Amino acid sequence: KVEDLVPTPPMGWNSWNTFHTNIDEKMVMETADALVSSGMRDAGYVYLVLDDGWMAMERDREGNLVPDPKKFPRGMKFVADYVHSKGLKFGMYNCAGTLTCQKYPGTRGYEYQDARNYASWDIDFLKYDWCNTAGINAKEAYTTMSDALQKTGKPILFSICEWGVNKPWEWGKGVGQLWRTTEDIYQIFDSVHDEGTWNSLSVMHIADLQSNLRKYSGPGHWNDPDMLEVGNGMTYNEDKAHFALWSIMASPLIAGNDVRKMTKETIEILTNKEILAVNQDPLGIQGFRYLDKDGLQVWFKPLKNGDWAVCFVNRNTLAKTISFDWSKEKIVDEIYAHSLDKNSTYNLLDLWSKKNAGTTAKELKATIEPHGVLMYRLSKSAL
Ligand code: DGJ
Repeated sequence: KVEDLVPTPPMGWNSWNTFHTNIDEKMVMETADALVSSGMRDAGYVYLVLDDGWMAMERDREGNLVPDPKKFPRGMKFVADYVHSKGLKFGMYNCAGTLTCQKYPGTRGYEYQDARNYASWDIDFLKYDWCNTAGINAKEAYTTMSDALQKTGKPILFSICEWGVNKPWEWGKGVGQLWRTTEDIYQIFDSVHDEGTWNSLSVMHIADLQSNLRKYSGPGHWNDPDMLEVGNGMTYNEDKAHFALWSIMASPLIAGNDVRKMTKETIEILTNKEILAVNQDPLGIQGFRYLDKDGLQVWFKPLKNGDWAVCFVNRNTLAKTISFDWSKEKIVDEIYAHSLDKNSTYNLLDLWSKKNAGTTAKELKATIEPHGVLMYRLSKSAL
């Protein structure tokens, strides 16, 4: 079953956040190469997904989707083969409406035909958007495409990009393997007014919207708070906080930066092994916000073997000094019946410095930089 392909949140790369519709064969091939040479593939980022803009403006006379001949002169099977030859998986994009968001031909009415073409090109992942859908029932539209993909006999991950308008978390399980929970992310850490383009949300705004959805997420069916903006212009601290939050939320980790030219810092963030282990923990439990006070957020996530992950995010534009007395806090995950064991002492591993950071027997005292984040793994066993 397709769900079995994602027992932990899917990881990969998508063209949209950086390239929008300016995509072509050369860029895709270079991206595939860079995912390998940077270590991203080996860290787990295996799905290379082409977003909106890969098609010609019209279907052919038989109604088949046609790749833009200028952007993809050798067709999509060629691209898929190249991506596969690098040990990656290949994903593509379309939309449940009559047109995609960028006005390329949508799939409405062509579901089975499009699915057959995707299968013939050997794709592994389909992101399916929600523009130009007036009068369409969301659950039905996504179910039709899901059935069409299944009919091909090829396991193709189905990414429901419905932006949370029709509560996809309530019907997405069994239809797709991940569903967007909000409108589009934008490379702004925090803003009240959501400056930016028409439907863009800041990182912290999106994080705020996830709290009540965690029970819907789990192995094979994931909440998707949208793709990563790490490396796309926020500060180093903001990129780290964004990555820590997406990891602790068991979010799909779909990088959205130009991986052909990443800074050392960006690579370090995206391939942080210990933080990826939090995101990819086999329990597949989405973390929860434990505290949200005076611009300080504290998030917890139960992990295998009774371990926990925790992150402290400073949402303020000034540094913040914290003291956190583990013995006075009651950390309970009511939905999944985990609680931090009061009678035990946990060792703390700092997931950024990779250094031992003491134990929970002692109050945690630290100063967090503006928009900064601290992240630890708590475990009873020795580090
Ligand atoms: C809206 C989606 O939410 C984005 O992620 C992206 O796929 C664009 N549409 C493409 O037009």
